[in-house]
Amino acid sequence: MDIDTGADIGRGRQGPSSRRRLRAAMAAGTVAVVAAATGAVVLTGTANAASTLRAAAEGDGRYFGVAVGQGDLGNSSATNLAGSQFDMVTPENEMKWDTIEPNNGQYNFGPGDNIVNFATSHNERVRGHNLVWHSQLPGWVSSLPSSQVKSAMESHITTEVSHYKGKIYAWDVVNEPFNEDGSYRQDVFYNAFGGGEQYIADAIRTAHAADPNAKLYINDYNIEGSGSKSNGMYTLAQQLLQQGVPLSGIGFESHFIVGQVPSSLASNMQRFTDLGLDVAITELDDRMPTPASSSNLQQQATDDANIVKTCLNNAHCPGVTQWNISDADSWVPGTFSGQGAATLFDSNWQPKPAYTSVLNALNAGGVMPSNSPSTSPSASPSTSPSSSPSSSPSSSPSSSPSASPSTGGSSCRISYSVSSQWPGGFGANVSITNLGAPISSWKVAWSFGAGQSITQLWNGSYTQSGGNVTVTNVSYNGSIGTGGSTSFGFNGAWNGSNPAPSNFTLNGAACSAG
Ligand code: XIL
Repeated sequence: MDIDTGADIGRGRQGPSSRRRLRAAMAAGTVAVVAAATGAVVLTGTANAASTLRAAAEGDGRYFGVAVGQGDLGNSSATNLAGSQFDMVTPENEMKWDTIEPNNGQYNFGPGDNIVNFATSHNERVRGHNLVWHSQLPGWVSSLPSSQVKSAMESHITTEVSHYKGKIYAWDVVNEPFNEDGSYRQDVFYNAFGGGEQYIADAIRTAHAADPNAKLYINDYNIEGSGSKSNGMYTLAQQLLQQGVPLSGIGFESHFIVGQVPSSLASNMQRFTDLGLDVAITELDDRMPTPASSSNLQQQATDDANIVKTCLNNAHCPGVTQWNISDADSWVPGTFSGQGAATLFDSNWQPKPAYTSVLNALNAGGVMPSNSPSTSPSASPSTSPSSSPSSSPSSSPSSSPSASPSTGGSSCRISYSVSSQWPGGFGANVSITNLGAPISSWKVAWSFGAGQSITQLWNGSYTQSGGNVTVTNVSYNGSIGTGGSTSFGFNGAWNGSNPAPSNFTLNGAACSAG
């Protein structure tokens, strides 16, 4: 593949983490710059360069996800890619209302369970998609008398979220609530509640009651750049936060057309994250006329890398999900006539130029996710709706590993960050940086000082005895080279106070914190 990966690292914006990685790799003498036959400069063999999207994303404290449909599960090309390259799964259709509750009160969880089982067996997390949407909605809901819609919606949400409780990282609670001009879609929910914020607030509060540990999103398309629709979503987000509604994030679907990624993506993402919300890229694809031209495939490589870099450069963008696994199972050709070739893998399930550019962008890194606890879904909405889209996310204490970290002579550094907190519960990310000799397995230990306990952990296995916690690697993330890092995350319970622990060890040796 004739992608100029070296140039990708050598120019443009680099976050502290990418500089750190490159420095570490060069210090280790493992960077080889070679001239490929094409004359392109290719950077190969760095100690820290991960070879899958998921491993590279995890090195940045992020996930790289994929939409998987029931039809994919019977196809080994699909399951091989979905099981190896990605670490977050969104069921393509299997958790939508028409599948889950085709008749009033009759629930069908089989297809959704199959997708969850696939994800779990590959150490992947799940984004639940979706609870309330005007589309793929069974006829019985639309024909209910208005007075019955609220209880039908609440029952649907409570039953579905409870069924999957503890298994879902984030729910798209409300999907696509806006018209293109930024007004609310006047669907059955809007009409029954008499307004947009009302049904949306009610849906989010209902989901939160059923699984307080799941992050709760509103998801839409054509809100990725600035404009009327995005302004509508922004106003809604402000209103919900002001009302104390436990909204965690906004999903930018990101169904793009090649060469037309909005130039305001980063600033628009920033204004939402400045409210204290996460913004995830939830349904990425970048379509073009088929058959694909090589120049469009190159443009796609540029587009997709830029989108990933935008996420990595925002400490509150937790990850990117691609919609469908490859061009072979993509929804695009069936929806947009004459268009396709929209994913990172071609119709033979092989990597495209965009795969390489995205992998390189992930390996180059960005800013690490913020440890700001201010994303609390149900904290008082003290985040005044700031209109300062340009304020830097790096003001949070340790969102950016400092350029020359003081390690105090220890052979490891642990960065512990609370990503969200609500009464009784919290989510945290832990990043391990190995400053000693390469290791092939790891065990991180610490003790909680205020009675906190872990309830669910991903990208690791844990035990807890009293306040003492031990986390060990899982099969795919045990190896950490010198200067390399990996991360895991967890949900926990707290009471009274929730101080960050500082007494970390890695394989028995004390680590510095931060
Ligand atoms: C699409 C699926 O990919 C198709 O299989 C289905 O026929 C229609 O829905 N926005 C969303 C997704 O939020 O749920 C949609 O998925 C794509 C657009």
